[in-house]
Amino acid sequence: MTDILSSEVGTLPSGFDPWDPAHVDDPIAVYTMMRETEPMHWNAKRRLWFATRFDDVALVLRDHENFSSAQYNIDKPHMTERPVDGDRYQAFKGPTMVTTEPPEQRRLRRGSAPAFSTRGLDRLAGRIREIADRLLDGVEGDEGMDVIADFAYPLPVYAIAELLGVPREDQDEFLELALADRGSPAHDPHASKETLERTAAHGRRLREFVEDVIEKKRRLPGEDLISALLTSQREDGLTHAEMIDTIHLMMEAGHITTVNLIGNGLDVLLDRPADMEAIRNDPGLAPSAVQECLRFVGPVQFTGRTATRDTVVGGSLVKAGESVIPLIPAANRDPSQFTDPEEFRIDRRPNRHLALGIGVHVCIGASLARVETEIAYTRLLTRYPHLRRAGETAWNTSFELRGRTTLPVAFR
Ligand code: HEM
Repeated sequence: MTDILSSEVGTLPSGFDPWDPAHVDDPIAVYTMMRETEPMHWNAKRRLWFATRFDDVALVLRDHENFSSAQYNIDKPHMTERPVDGDRYQAFKGPTMVTTEPPEQRRLRRGSAPAFSTRGLDRLAGRIREIADRLLDGVEGDEGMDVIADFAYPLPVYAIAELLGVPREDQDEFLELALADRGSPAHDPHASKETLERTAAHGRRLREFVEDVIEKKRRLPGEDLISALLTSQREDGLTHAEMIDTIHLMMEAGHITTVNLIGNGLDVLLDRPADMEAIRNDPGLAPSAVQECLRFVGPVQFTGRTATRDTVVGGSLVKAGESVIPLIPAANRDPSQFTDPEEFRIDRRPNRHLALGIGVHVCIGASLARVETEIAYTRLLTRYPHLRRAGETAWNTSFELRGRTTLPVAFR
């Protein structure tokens, strides 16, 4: 076994920490250095493996028998500090498709699939276009806006409301609840007791809201996700608690991810007027442009898996019980997979990146996220042909879900 193990292990300096706050402005530079220096890196400080090569990241994500998402989510080894009784304050905490493995994961996932079918997405696309235009009507007449606060933040909330089947008259309340539901202080080691209690109260309100929509759908089912989950209750034995947790998962997994994709991608496009003009003149370019935004500045930086048995990855032995962090942006700029990976090309083909995962846990909302971002860009660029930057932008400080906190633009 030893002779196939990498001789590169241990090349990075001891005490090296990829998630040192000093790297937050440019994590990609650090990830690239890792891929070039020690592509499978055992980090002594975090006690985690980091995978950075495309093939290694894809292997770990695909091989759900040897690399378990369920076990990783129990350990949460990247969260070294957590509030002692943080979980007590969480209104939603059951197992979901992300925290289980097949066949249980398939049972929990199956019921949601019809809402993400082509037919379901066609229905949603029309509504998302209307919502995008309504949000832009709201700033019409102004000199400009903050793309994040005024557009990218609310758009996915309304899209998820539509996906779930929240009646239109209740959607503004849904947005208000989503606005209050920022992050999960239950995982923040520095959250005060007051913050945890406020979050718990908010979680209860959200839960009541969701219960109310479920009752409405029971009486009057539609083609939405909640109606599909009610069917799954009968056909797959999905319990009421599992249905509630699935709904909450969609709200969590489908919101800030999409906000950040819209913001991160537009941030790149704003420096590339020729690309903006090309998309405006030919909206058929939007899908490949969004695909490239996902590769180049996709928001999800990593996920995690725990080895269920000793397994060799990229020449390194990962022992049973050790966790691996696949660094998605590092894989998405691997020159063995992409020609000129540091170049942003809105017509890049092929462009098989890992920004939405791969394998059994591949993002169920991938097509929805793409459609939302395509609509966001085409509506913005069509309505504001002279769109330009109008101030400083800033990165959030998250190593998990990277995104712009503000992105001021001028319309003229
Ligand atoms: C730009 C937007 C998005 C990005 C970058 C993204 C990324 C990802 C990634 C990388 C995974 C795989 C996680 C893993 O393997 O551990 C994932 C899973 C998932 N995503 Fe997304 N996502 C996005 C939008 C959405 C939307 C809009 C929804 C739903 C409304 C959604 C729902 C989910 C769910 C439920 C899973 C878990 C699937 C499973 O474990 O079976 N995501 N996403």
